[in-house]
Amino acid sequence: MAFHKISITINKESEQVVVPSNMTLMQMLRESLALTGTKNGCSAGECGACTVLLNGQPVNSCMVLAVECDGAEIITVEGLAHDRQLDPIQEAIIESGAVQCGFCTPGILISSRALLDRNPDPTEDEIGEALVGNLCRCTGYARIIEAVKKAARTKAIIAQSIPTD
Ligand code: FES
Ligand code: FES
Repeated sequence: MAFHKISITINKESEQVVVPSNMTLMQMLRESLALTGTKNGCSAGECGACTVLLNGQPVNSCMVLAVECDGAEIITVEGLAHDRQLDPIQEAIIESGAVQCGFCTPGILISSRALLDRNPDPTEDEIGEALVGNLCRCTGYARIIEAVKKAARTKAIIAQSIPTD
């Protein structure tokens, strides 16, 4: 088995990690970097629990080899909060009661955050489309969709309150 030294930026921190050729990004995050917020639901690209942002795009980290991420920027659920302040989507998921067991929640948060970054005011259909790869077995999607709409409103209010000069 060959090993590779890769350089990555994870949650704004530079890291160098030695990974075997067959290690997935999900395994590297969970096993080499102890970032266990990224969940392993299926290891087969079907549940979305392992979703992270890879260069700004949501990906199933179980379907990406770690060695392919050399030079990449990765954001995991641990990187959403800043200065001890939750991201608006995290606040909204909690306030909307959109969590039961929580296993799907990291992936839902990452996919929702990616959606709001590219589309600050999504329709319900657009939210459903963005979350089509994130399976939730217990909460149901009504509260999750409501949470994404709530986070969009909060982000709009925050954006309006930031002085432009
Ligand atoms: S663990 Fe990656 S999609 Fe299910
Ligand atoms: S809250 Fe349990 S799978 Fe979504």
